[in-house]
Amino acid sequence: MANLLVLHGPNLNLLGSREPEIYGHATLDAINTDLAARATAAGHALQSFQSNAEHALVDRVQAAHNDGTDFILINPAGLTHTSVALRDAMAAVAIPFIEVHLSNPHAREPFRHTSYFSDLAVGLVAGFGPIGYGLALAAAIQRLDANDSKAR
Ligand code: DQA
Repeated sequence: MANLLVLHGPNLNLLGSREPEIYGHATLDAINTDLAARATAAGHALQSFQSNAEHALVDRVQAAHNDGTDFILINPAGLTHTSVALRDAMAAVAIPFIEVHLSNPHAREPFRHTSYFSDLAVGLVAGFGPIGYGLALAAAIQRLDANDSKAR
């Protein structure tokens, strides 16, 4: 059994009502509930955490180093394009992660074309709306299960 952590950055608590034409209609609770159910069905455990505060996300990433987290899915939201501190935390804990975006940042304003996370990530899912989280989880589980069977 692996432990997965889903991290959501600033303003993602507003999903469902925030610019639904860009981010879709699903609420963050609905996304988290769906992910937890999928992880459980695959025999894994999944926790989620959202914050509007950069330092709270950095603290949660640092905690992941000691709480048995095996894999992270992260949508850093606006911090994608600004946060050296959150990037440094991800590099410091060295837990493999997938970067997720509901929208396709590359099809949007130029300031969204830079990510401080993509070069550290195992992979990136962007542009598919809320189902992108499920796609990222499927990829993470496949990787965790493959590593597990190699270890046996
Ligand atoms: C986002 C894209 C970011 O550019 C934006 O700041 C967000 C959400 C996405 O999921 O599409 O808050 O990460």
